[in-house]
Amino acid sequence: HEEFTKVKNIATIELGRYEIETWYFSPFPPEYNDTLKLYFCEFCLNFMKRPEQLQRHMRKCDLKHPPGDEIYRSGTLSMFEVDGKKNKVYGQNLCYLAKLFLDHKTLYYDVDLFLFYVLCECDDRGCHMVGYFSKEKHSEESYNLACILTLPPYQRKGYGKFLIAFSYELSKKEGKVGTPERPLSDLGLLSYRGYWTRVLLDILKKHKGNISIKELSDMTAIKAEDILTTLQSLELIQYRKGQHVICADPKVLDRHLKAAGRGGLEVDVSKLIWTPYK
Ligand code: COA
Ligand code: NA
Repeated sequence: HEEFTKVKNIATIELGRYEIETWYFSPFPPEYNDTLKLYFCEFCLNFMKRPEQLQRHMRKCDLKHPPGDEIYRSGTLSMFEVDGKKNKVYGQNLCYLAKLFLDHKTLYYDVDLFLFYVLCECDDRGCHMVGYFSKEKHSEESYNLACILTLPPYQRKGYGKFLIAFSYELSKKEGKVGTPERPLSDLGLLSYRGYWTRVLLDILKKHKGNISIKELSDMTAIKAEDILTTLQSLELIQYRKGQHVICADPKVLDRHLKAAGRGGLEVDVSKLIWTPYK
């Protein structure tokens, strides 16, 4: 529990071709506390206090993409899996950066225990990070996502839903159900609600005959509780004779689907080359 509200220290960052205003406090090492702006190398995510330092760094840094395995490529979009144990500094840098846009998450955990899935738009200059999510290597609580971020210049373009969809595709490959770590931010919850609604209602629309929450969970890797709360909040669940019954009136489903917003960028599963972490 914090005794006082931490004052936001870094007001802006430079990252690749963007200058980005920050949202929240992030616990950078004390020697960075006397500066309002930080300059990030967009590839290794090292940060510096002065533009000359970044320029010098960019001449030496030979990374052109996140330091990990490219596990997905479709068009100009690539996903890299970075092991926090093998790339500790990168993992820590990413956490410092992400905390600037995350209100409540504490980032004092051990990056060794996490994998980072970094989504990039690639061109001839390199792979430019648009967002990421982190995932515990082993989660007792069946979490399939710890933190998720779309960098502000890239928000509201469907990348958030892409990252969420990706996290469930990984869970499907593991043969497990998953759920995001709580608490979710307002924007996180909106994005998840939109994703869950779209995925579940698309299935209900196409499906003929009865379907159970367990079956929906098996098909989507969405945890049963999340399916239940999503359908309940849409008032699609009735309780009859001691059983949950899902309403699947096509008109009602269409109305909710419309309200759930755009589908977002699709994950093309045939382009995902990945085996679960052992
Ligand atoms: N205002 C209203 N609704 C918003 C919104 C905003 N500023 N940003 C996202 N949404 C909702 C919309 O329903 C949107 O769908 P739509 O555009 O089809 O209407 C949906 O969320 C997802 O949009 P999408 O473009 O796929 O997401 P995104 O790339 O903007 O990323 C987050 C969503 C949550 C990852 C992003 O807002 C973020 O990084 N926030 C800061 C970090 C954070 O809070 N992470 C979650 C911690 S649990
Ligand atoms: Na995101």
